[in-house]
Amino acid sequence: MTQADLVIRGGKVVAPDSVIEASVAIKDGLILAVGADSAMPPTKQTLDASGMHILPGAIDVHVHFRDPGYPHKEDFASGTIAAAFGGVTTVFDMPNTIPPVGTPELLAAKHRMAADKAHVDFGLYALLGEDTIQHATEFAKTAIGFKLYMGNTFGAIPTPDTGAMLEAFEVVAPTGKRVSLHAETNSIMVRRELRMREAGRIDPLAHIASRPAVVAVEAVSRAAILSEWTGCRVHILHISSAEELRPLREAKARGVDITGETCPQYLFLSTDDYARFGGVIRVNPPVRERRNQEPLFAALADGTVDLVATDHAPHSVEEKTRNDIWTVDCGFPGVETQMPMMLTEVAAGRYSVSDYVRWSAASPAKIWGLYPRKGVIQPGSEADIAVVDLDREWTIDDARLQSLSKITPFHGRRVQGLPVHTLVRGRFVMKDRVLQPGTRGHGRSVHAIQQMPAAAPKNTDNTMSAIVGAGSPAGREHAA
Ligand code: NCD
Ligand code: ZN
Repeated sequence: MTQADLVIRGGKVVAPDSVIEASVAIKDGLILAVGADSAMPPTKQTLDASGMHILPGAIDVHVHFRDPGYPHKEDFASGTIAAAFGGVTTVFDMPNTIPPVGTPELLAAKHRMAADKAHVDFGLYALLGEDTIQHATEFAKTAIGFKLYMGNTFGAIPTPDTGAMLEAFEVVAPTGKRVSLHAETNSIMVRRELRMREAGRIDPLAHIASRPAVVAVEAVSRAAILSEWTGCRVHILHISSAEELRPLREAKARGVDITGETCPQYLFLSTDDYARFGGVIRVNPPVRERRNQEPLFAALADGTVDLVATDHAPHSVEEKTRNDIWTVDCGFPGVETQMPMMLTEVAAGRYSVSDYVRWSAASPAKIWGLYPRKGVIQPGSEADIAVVDLDREWTIDDARLQSLSKITPFHGRRVQGLPVHTLVRGRFVMKDRVLQPGTRGHGRSVHAIQQMPAAAPKNTDNTMSAIVGAGSPAGREHAA
């Protein structure tokens, strides 16, 4: 019988449709067997997981690790260490760095940097903007997907107009990759913010007043139409309002390949928290009225919203505590607190731990073509595992975060559920809440295992390639 490298004994293995008492054997980074302990092969090493739940590591499809460009906020090492402490085994990192990931050379450089520093696996987004459409086919060879900013946010990335978005979607569709959208309409927000500033408003609530939910509803609706027209797969990032759910639901019902995420800040915070947290709570899209929370939970339950991500957006204490809200940097860290916060609701009986792994691991793996290689604990899958104590109660303390960013509106929150060990491809990165030596550089890019077949073309009349000739670089040259 083959000898395993590690057998995890005595825990409960969680899948989207089951929780079973089982042991897990791991060899060469892959799951070798899941089943009765008596059926496990001989092993070099054993981990006693009695009383613990064994979850597929979370796949966080929305993090900002700030590398290169903002080493005081985060870098790829600190960000991936924070991920490991949060039970997150794969992250997809956003391109709003300095410089932004807007050329194939910069994407290649970021892959080298991340491979050198990462403690967990990663995918890298390429920036899809008016000036980068011509690189889309090249980007698609190594990027996990694309990021398109419909609205301005941290990093002042220009927002493509609707014409550029349509061209971009036409070029991306045949690559099969998904375009992740910051779906807030810039032109609405620019005017609103100007009116707020003219009125002398610098308080935290002026931020949400400048970005009412209609900015997201309009953006999601428009993106869905362009996705439907071109066949380009899209993902709606950080859904913050109940109103966005209608265009998302309707597009899904029409067969559009559109997916959505929400984040703990929209499920657990509300406008009631602005007074207490001030600028710390400033994030894009904004934390909204409490009435949005229940519909967002319901949308996760019925599958309208596919998954939970964090939008981990670290900044320094100074950058988060300025008096004038317009000068406060947007976002806060989340990669370490997502799993405990979401599992607290499992303890409260709001949903099951199986539901949770569907949103945190299985769905993201499926949506980005990594399943069943990742996102599930079954023979043949990569052994990306969070061993979690679902009973453990503790209090989030931002001073103790692994992230370089020590400030979050989740500070002081009582939670139940703690990742105790995290394994990435069979290797302990975090064990007994201690970072394991030698794990820097263990993380690798998942693009090599990604399977995303070309999207089916929808409308073939008058496409950009029909107008300018197949293979012509659509984008600036043509638009000019
Ligand atoms: C993000 C950041 O800081 O990079 N900030 C935020 O408020 N969410 C940008 C983003 O995700 O929009
Ligand atoms: Zn983001």
